[in-house]
Amino acid sequence: MIMDDDVYDAYREAGALAQRVLHRGAGLVRVGAGLLEMVEETEAMVIDEGAGLAFPLNVSFNEAAAHDTAMPGDERIFSAGDLVKVDLGVHIDGYIADTALTVDLGNHAGLVEASRAALDAAIAIVRPGTTAGEIGTAVQATIEEHGYIPVANLTGHGLGHYDLHAKPTIPNIAMSGGAIIEEGMVFAIEPFATTGSGRISEAARVEIYQQIAARPARLPSAKRVLETARPQRGLPFARRWVPGDKVDIGLMNLVRSGILHPFPVLNDIPGSFVSQAEHTLIVTADGCEVTTG
Ligand code: CO
Repeated sequence: MIMDDDVYDAYREAGALAQRVLHRGAGLVRVGAGLLEMVEETEAMVIDEGAGLAFPLNVSFNEAAAHDTAMPGDERIFSAGDLVKVDLGVHIDGYIADTALTVDLGNHAGLVEASRAALDAAIAIVRPGTTAGEIGTAVQATIEEHGYIPVANLTGHGLGHYDLHAKPTIPNIAMSGGAIIEEGMVFAIEPFATTGSGRISEAARVEIYQQIAARPARLPSAKRVLETARPQRGLPFARRWVPGDKVDIGLMNLVRSGILHPFPVLNDIPGSFVSQAEHTLIVTADGCEVTTG
């Protein structure tokens, strides 16, 4: 046993909870249902279980690949034809499970299957000695076999204690080398398949932020933002979570002073559709255990 038993249990417990909540949350994605209600209800399921959110529930529509979530007072509803990515991060004492699926409200079954099959193909080759490049190669090959394009500039990532973007980086495209997978590593694999360009770019809108420096703020609205951020202990939080007014002024002030890092909504080209599948796993002596499976 390479990992402390308590740590291992926390990862497994977080994974089981994430899996349960993800499927219940995805069940709320129905034509005519409101985004804000769906997001708040799903996040509450995690809190009600006594666990923490490793990041705000990401719900990204159509060409948006990631990092969208409900805005304050969001009035968007799910519509027929939408392709909806639901990406959930749960932690127990800082040990994170990160898992995602795609809900198809249109006729995108093949695209949904492409990212899901790529995730399965990737998981099947994870064991000590596999390289991150080999995983990316499996992801790209599977998505292309299904007739779609992998998103090249989004990657899977290691999950450290209160750290969402630890090593290793797991590419979604073929490459040589990369990190060598070792027993005890914990990471998320998250293939994205697209009908678009295969490269996402940052939109102007930002709903999710992360505190990256511990300096104090003077502006009252900025102080209120940092009070919201504090319990996350460096994990991301949502603009929607900050109470009161002038929230955007506080956020802008903190980004400018290098205290917050913004995560803009990430889009492929307009009119395209992106699907995503994601699991978290722990590398074992001869393979891996999927904590969110
Ligand atoms: Co992830």
